[in-house]
Amino acid sequence: MRVMITGGLGFIGSQMIRFLLDTISDIQIINVDALTYAGNLANLQDYEHDPRYRWVHAAIGDKAQIEPVMSEGAIDLIMNFAAESHVDRSIYSGAPFVATNVLGAEILVELARAYRVPRFLQVSTDEVYGSLGTEGLFSETSPLNPNSPYSASKAAADLLILAAFRTHGQDVVITRCSNNYGPYQFPEKLIPLFITNGLEGRSWPLYGDGQNVRDWLHVTDHVRALWEVAQHGKPGQVYNIGGHNEKSNREVAESLADILQLPYDVITPVPDRLGHDRRYAIDAQKITKELGWQSQTTWEQGLRETVQWYRDHESWWKAIKSGAYREYYEKQYGPSRKDSPEA
Ligand code: NAD
Ligand code: TYD
Repeated sequence: MRVMITGGLGFIGSQMIRFLLDTISDIQIINVDALTYAGNLANLQDYEHDPRYRWVHAAIGDKAQIEPVMSEGAIDLIMNFAAESHVDRSIYSGAPFVATNVLGAEILVELARAYRVPRFLQVSTDEVYGSLGTEGLFSETSPLNPNSPYSASKAAADLLILAAFRTHGQDVVITRCSNNYGPYQFPEKLIPLFITNGLEGRSWPLYGDGQNVRDWLHVTDHVRALWEVAQHGKPGQVYNIGGHNEKSNREVAESLADILQLPYDVITPVPDRLGHDRRYAIDAQKITKELGWQSQTTWEQGLRETVQWYRDHESWWKAIKSGAYREYYEKQYGPSRKDSPEA
């Protein structure tokens, strides 16, 4: 089986590749990644000499970069992880989010159709549903109501991909997962930022009143779910993925402080994020009933192991925080591949 994974040098995409190489012997993986600030070759260092794995330095929004990979030979499945993924960055500059998350996804799905790729899986997010009040859960039929340029761009991609199914009968599936945590997450996101700041003796900027709620899922549970959907999901369907694990940001911060044995005054309230979604919570009944998937990692165990991973991999995150890794890679590989607007 030949699988094209896009964004495989990022947090979740690299976990997907590790999972596939570790569990399936007869597999070929082509990792198409533009190596933006969030991509990191160190994430797959242990696999770079595996003959079943190859990284192609290309941007999904640039047809001229992607088409040669498609035309090399039969690809059985595309899993699109590539994205600009950080809400805070999108608030002040949405254009890169549209270039990759919308135009990139559309170019990819069109090429998948032209080259008769049997299945296209779009890795989307629960953020496309917008924000919940204190009650209720997002189901697959909840209206799309995104609030940030990031979530709006992911919602636009979902609509374009569903349009490919409705218009052309193209085999596509979409997953919408809640917030992930675990090893190799870029330290701009809440959990790795707080852990690494804690290990460096720095404070933890908690936005607003700290009562915003996220539904946390360990990244290994997410990639198992993605593989179930890739193999057994029904064409044209959306599958929500979540672990029934709602926590306020203050609860997350206090649990991390307990594990790291830090006083709670490390938590420093700062002004709120603009347009900050109040609560996300996922109804994951469909994937459980249809495909038998359930989360396996408990929050307590997952959080402890994640803290331990960051303790054990100081050189990984210190290089990112110091910017040294980007200088090194730009010397080796040149700057990030840019999506060309005329593509
Ligand atoms: P990430 O930011 O860690 O990684 C993104 C990867 O995509 C990087 O390796 C980057 O180099 C690559 N990339 C960016 N632009 C590209 C382009 N134009 N062409 C090719 N590669 C490009 O992101 P992540 O947290 O691993 O998220 C992966 C996917 O999962 C995203 O689509 C995101 O929307 C979705 N998702 C994330 C979460 C979460 O909690 N992190 C939850 C649900 C869904
Ligand atoms: P984040 O990890 O950016 O994920 P998302 O915005 O996609 O949910 O943020 C998770 C929650 O943590 C969100 O409610 C914003 C909050 N947050 C902080 O309070 N402080 C921070 O420094 C960051 C990065 C996030």
